Formats: sequence, C-alpha cells, structure tokens
Amino acid sequence: MVSSVIPVHTFDLVIFGATGDLAHRKIFPSLYRRLAVGQMPADARIIGAARSKMSRTEFRKSVSDALQKYIGAAKLDADVLDTFLACLDYVAIDAKGTGGWSVLGKKLDEREDAVRAFYLSVAPSLFSEIAQRLYDAGIATPSSRIVIEKPLGHDLASAQELNSALSRCFDEHQIYRIDHYLGKETVQNLMAIRFANALFEPLWNSRYVEHVQITVAETVGVNGRGAYYDASGAMRDMVQNHLMQLLCLTAMEPPSRFEPDAVRDEKLKIIRALDPLTLGDTVRGQYRAAGKEGSYLDHVGDPQSKTESFVAIRAHISNWRWSGTPFYLRTGKKLSGRLSEIVVTFRHPPHTIFPQVEQQKGNALIIRLQPDEGITMRVTIKDPGPGGMRLVEVPMDMTFADALGGHGDGMPEAYERLIMDVIRGDQTLFMRGDEVEAAWAWVDPIIQIWKDSGSRPLPYDPGSGGPIESYKLTGSDGHLWREITV
Ligand code: BG6
Repeated sequence: MVSSVIPVHTFDLVIFGATGDLAHRKIFPSLYRRLAVGQMPADARIIGAARSKMSRTEFRKSVSDALQKYIGAAKLDADVLDTFLACLDYVAIDAKGTGGWSVLGKKLDEREDAVRAFYLSVAPSLFSEIAQRLYDAGIATPSSRIVIEKPLGHDLASAQELNSALSRCFDEHQIYRIDHYLGKETVQNLMAIRFANALFEPLWNSRYVEHVQITVAETVGVNGRGAYYDASGAMRDMVQNHLMQLLCLTAMEPPSRFEPDAVRDEKLKIIRALDPLTLGDTVRGQYRAAGKEGSYLDHVGDPQSKTESFVAIRAHISNWRWSGTPFYLRTGKKLSGRLSEIVVTFRHPPHTIFPQVEQQKGNALIIRLQPDEGITMRVTIKDPGPGGMRLVEVPMDMTFADALGGHGDGMPEAYERLIMDVIRGDQTLFMRGDEVEAAWAWVDPIIQIWKDSGSRPLPYDPGSGGPIESYKLTGSDGHLWREITV
C-alpha cells in the first residue's frame, strides 16, 4: 500500500540551535526524508541560526555530515541530497544579544508568501528571550509559528511564566509545543482505533474495563545526561508529558471533531479529572550498579541523590466513564526491555459456564507504540483437540508494518510528521499551554510529598521490571503488570 503524500506550502523554517544534537539527529534527517517523498517543496528554505560564525558552505557540509551519520550514506540519494543542501542557508545569531537579527529579518522579507516558522532547538532558558527578540525585531509576523519542545518549565510556576512570556509575542494558535510521543504512528492510531471503529467504544468505560496499564520502559541509563536528568527525574522527564499524553488519548471522551481545540479540550478534561496522588499511589526507584556498569548514583555523580529513574503510579480519573478503573503508569531507565505499550484489560464475563475461566487473565487490548507498532487482542478460545473443554488465551495480532505492507524504511519518524504539521498549521498533535500547566498542577504536589517524606527511591536491578514494590502496587488491587519483554 502506498501512502499518498500531499506537498505542503513552501516555507522558511528557521532553526535556532541548528548545529546542535537534536537538529542533527532528528530535525535535518526528518526534513530530508520529507523532501525525498515529495512532501517538502524543493524551494523551501531551511535557515540555520546559531552562535558560531560559519559560511553557508560550511553549514551545508555540517548538515551533510549529520545526514550521512544519522540516515546512513547508503540510504542517501545523491540528487535528493543536492536539492536538500541547496535549501539550506545560515545566519550567525547571538540569541542573547543584537547580532544577526536584522540579517535574518532581511532574508525572510524576501519571501513574504512563504510559511514562516521558528524552531527553537535550544536550551529552554532561551525560549522566552528568542521569542521576544523575534517579536521586537518585527520578524515574527502574525501568521508565523514558533516551535518549542520539553522541558516546558520545571513546575507549574515556571510553565506559567514561560507561557506568559510566549504569549506576549505569539498567539496561542502560533505556538507549537512538541511532545514527540504525539507524533508516533500508533499514538495517533489510538484515536483511529477508538473513534473510527464501533467495536471498542461501547466497552471503553469502567463497566467493562477492569484496569489500564501504560508502560514506557527503556534499557538505557542516564549516562551523558546526568545533570539534566538528576534535576528532573522520571516524573518530570516522562510522566508529566509523554505518559500523560498517552493517558489522555486513552481516556478522553470522543471529541466532536478531529480538530486541534476539540481534541485538546477533551485531553484537558482528563488531566483535570485526575485525583491527587498520595504517597501510597506511587513507587519510585533508582537502578543499581551491575558488573562494570555504574549505578544511577554513579551516573549522576551524586551519592545522595533522591531523584527517581523509575516511577510507577496508580491514577484514578474521577469522571462518569472511568470511576472505579485504575490507570497504572510506569516508566524507567535500565529496565528489561525497550517497550512502550498501553494495555486495556477488560473485566471477566459476568457469569461463566466454563470452570477454568476463572484462571484466565481475561480479554485485553494491547496497543504497542514501540517496537513493532501494532495492536494485539488477547482472547480466550478452546484449546484445539480432544480432552474436554480446555481454554487457552491466544493473541490476535496485528503488526501495522505487516498489515500495511510496510514502508521499507519503517514508519515516518515522529518529527517528520510534526514538522510538516507545523507548516500545515495543524496543532492537533501539539500541546496547548493550559494542558501543560494542568499536567504540572497534577505532578507538582506528589513531587513535593516525596521531598517532604525525606524517603529515598528504592533500588532495583538493571535488566529488571523495576522495584518489586511496583508489583505490589498493582498486586494489592489484584492486578499484575505485564512483563517487560521484547
Ligand atoms: C525524552 C526523554 O523526552 O524521551 C528521554 O527526555 C527519553 O529521557 C526519551 O529517553 C524516550 O523517547 P523514545 O521516543 O525513545 O521512547
């Protein structure tokens, strides 16, 4: 099956921090791929903006090197690469001073009919300042867009401060807050599965759903990012944004239309309906050392750190649909597999005519975000053959890559879709300011409770499923985490 690609309007995309890691690893490769499939027009301009003085040729060389590294020389098409590099331009800009802004302004004024977007791939401490300079220099027009990415604040107060600084220069409809999880194919598929099929929605409530598990497990540690991570922890780094978004999309009411504010209004209602967390609803962990691999404390260089590299949460949504159905969230580093999935477990049939059915786990819908994006439905059937009515549970498996014929290089990267959505002016997959603030308002109190308790995260072995206490969290409700195996 060939997906149809609709080219976007021509654009001028200014990337602040164009020589940085995110730009090299994600942004340029994504744009290259969109050009290769014909979605990015060949007359689009990608203007790198960074502190270093550099000629256009040097900049093109640095981007070309990044593409060789992150896409792979063998996968690059010489003609597409030439066209792509010809789209690149560079301006040396002092984000904290006045140098370079008028040069950028003049370049952009050459093409007033192009979509104008600014991607701030820089330290978050620079977001407000760059927004203000763009505004003061008259470079930010009423239709231009600004793109920022987490961390969007460190707590509610700092998120509010950031939102109000941005709103002095840009309207909400111009602000694109990326959560790259929303760009993942299966996350969007979650909406399609729920709202384009009549099958699931009637069962999608606490009458039929016993509990929901959302797991984002990683095998990597925090090496190399220790300073950032130790000031954040799993709660701020993953739960406040990625897991929260997954929770919202799983639990929200059907929006009246598939439009940015209709979808975001429904997500916001879920965040606001979450009960406050108590200490007993959470388990925090820190990975131990194993062999030559250091522990979390070694990796962040602070033997006293109380920051969590793992967290498990039992959340309750106080609304008509979900009252009585716990949502368990868990995420951590150095776990036994790299796996992101949502498991919706249904209640047992109200009456059983098969004695063995009690031992069955029951129906479950497993939505895999990564790896092998797809969905699996766990159903109970009769074990084939003679020997009486024995029941077994089997997976009805649909891996999207198989079902859709695959795309050769796999599904489009989250950033490919998100950047194209910025150009198209579609904010559906971006977080609104009030959503971000509501998410902070939910996580801030429990972070404070942890701090006040003076307790330390529980140690867990690398390659495990996290601290044993996280199994007790679900176990005390009679539920079991799915194993993290890949
Ligand atoms: C980032 C976090 O937002 O998401 C990282 O800061 C984490 O700590 C990453 O590793 C996970 O993203 P993905 O797409 O690899 O699951």
